[in-house]
Amino acid sequence: MKKVLFVASECVPLVKTGGLADVVGSLPKYLNKDEFDVRIMLPKYMMISEKYKENMQYKTHFQMDLSWRSQYVGIFETVIDGITFYLIDNEYYFAGDKPYGQIYDDLEKFAFFSRACLSALPIIGFQPDIIHCHDWQTGLIPVYLHDSFQGDEFFWGMKTIMTIHNLKFQGIAGIETMKNITGLTDYFFTGDKLGMYGDGNYLKGGIVYADYVTTVSDSYAEEIKTPFYGEGLDGIMNWKSNWLCGIVNGIDYEEYNPETDPLIVKNYNAENFRKEKKKNKKALQQELGLEVDDKKFMIGIVSRLTDQKGLDLIDCVIEEICAEDVQLVVLGTGEEKYENLFKHYAWKYGDRVSANIFYSNERSHRIYAACDAFLMPSLFEPCGLSQLMSLRYGTVPIVRETGGLRDTVEPYNEYEGTGTGFGFMNYNAHEMLRIIRYAKDVYYNHKREWNKIVDRGMAVDFSWPASAKKYEELYRSM
Ligand code: GLC
Repeated sequence: MKKVLFVASECVPLVKTGGLADVVGSLPKYLNKDEFDVRIMLPKYMMISEKYKENMQYKTHFQMDLSWRSQYVGIFETVIDGITFYLIDNEYYFAGDKPYGQIYDDLEKFAFFSRACLSALPIIGFQPDIIHCHDWQTGLIPVYLHDSFQGDEFFWGMKTIMTIHNLKFQGIAGIETMKNITGLTDYFFTGDKLGMYGDGNYLKGGIVYADYVTTVSDSYAEEIKTPFYGEGLDGIMNWKSNWLCGIVNGIDYEEYNPETDPLIVKNYNAENFRKEKKKNKKALQQELGLEVDDKKFMIGIVSRLTDQKGLDLIDCVIEEICAEDVQLVVLGTGEEKYENLFKHYAWKYGDRVSANIFYSNERSHRIYAACDAFLMPSLFEPCGLSQLMSLRYGTVPIVRETGGLRDTVEPYNEYEGTGTGFGFMNYNAHEMLRIIRYAKDVYYNHKREWNKIVDRGMAVDFSWPASAKKYEELYRSM
């Protein structure tokens, strides 16, 4: 039996700020239990809900050196849906109502976490064959493994995988600061290791020292080898390209199932969506105080409101998007300028724009169920999960063809009668607008074609099993 340890900074159902948590929380459930013993390590954040904390058992604790500091490390254990979780406890680092805060605090917090994860293993007696690290917060694990744990027989032969969910965030600080925080010596801060333009970089360290690197779609795996998407690391991605691949994310098809979803008003499936889906639209219009008309073309956006998501394109042509024959429903939080943009239009066009500037899982399900189209014009998108949820709910994605969006949404071709959504290539507001208008035209004037797009979208399969098999193959090959 191969033992695999997932290490990450967030994971459903305990703590989530983005898609990372969905992936870390759902993938382990789909790996073959007879062949792989997969466990998860996470920080024991104070903000984790009481209902989960109650079931965490204290295992042990020890003191650990981190650079010149000596810190307490507590270890708790819990089992959720058959998966064992280890939680690293230290209230100095993991207090607060959010998992992340100021970057310098976070750098120290995750240096502590990474070192504590490795230090804890011999003590709890779990000896993974593979440590599967996710994003910059765990980038130091392959580095520390190489630097200070190799001497211990317990760690011999232990392999690491670094999965990049988003190359934008790397964990960067000046070299002196980083040496102080991490305890790593000068040796590690040259350009072939953690060093980058005079700074230190956790994710780069993880990429360099990991035995294998993956990212969350094939296209993104290619894109990050170019300067536009490489975020300064395209050189290292090219150098690592023989040990780099893309494995597209899946979504939890049990949680996201329009036929059984308890959070939506009217359940439906691929056979009866023509009649039943629009009842969800009517219900949402009522709920949000929009004009109730199940024929109106309703566009949904569920997103972190950040630049990555292409919101400046929307900003540029929002007046044109919010035409009289459209309803726009937005859910999410983020940068103030975008929050204000949507709030303003919800005020200006109260009967057709709804701005929900918060996050609600329930409301997100209702939006996927109610809308006709889902807009995702990302500047870059490692994978993207919302378009997969939309496809599952028969809501037609309108996307920019980048990263995982390009790999999962096939653009409609009216001549061949193919495609599951609408796509545009260039990062250009009017190109996006043209595609939105095209989608609207198909919806209003070629309804049978529209419904066939929905048919095809609901028939594609982005559940986890196919992607989980690829991770299994990778684990076996190591
Ligand atoms: C990040 C990426 C997103 C991806 C998710 C899970 O949030 O921005 O594209 O789907 O991670 O891998």
